[in-house]
Amino acid sequence: VKAIVVNGPNLGRLGVRQPDVYGRQDLAELTRQCEQWGREFGFEAVEVRQTDDEAEMIGWMHEAADNGTPVVMNPAAFTHYSYGLADAAHMVGDAGLPLMEVHISNPSARDEFRKRSVISPVATGTITGLGFFGYRLALEAIAHIMGLTP
Ligand code: DQA
Repeated sequence: VKAIVVNGPNLGRLGVRQPDVYGRQDLAELTRQCEQWGREFGFEAVEVRQTDDEAEMIGWMHEAADNGTPVVMNPAAFTHYSYGLADAAHMVGDAGLPLMEVHISNPSARDEFRKRSVISPVATGTITGLGFFGYRLALEAIAHIMGLTP
């Protein structure tokens, strides 16, 4: 089983963007860690992606649904308003695949507009507030759900 880890807008700026909130490690480091965790949990491969483009992220969900690929998603700001992405995430679930929502920060403890996620209702589960470690837990959850053995 191959998994994709998709990251939404502004997450290409990890390391320089609000390090007090998102940490000092960058997307390359997150990529390296996810690949390593993937091996640890018995995935064939873990592919980490990032886009600032809603259409591209939606396209990745169509592809995942068609290819039988489970998803770890940090929808970033799309979390709070993208019904298009929510509908696309729903299709991943309809295909019988786990989709784990991850947030590096704890959005409920921040601005009012961050308290609502339109993705959570269609996600298998949501992990927030644990930094990059949340991605590890999300990958482990998918490995558990799909019965992978290292
Ligand atoms: C985020 C939280 C969102 O509210 C924000 O728009 C992001 C990152 C997180 O990982 O904590 O870009 O998804």
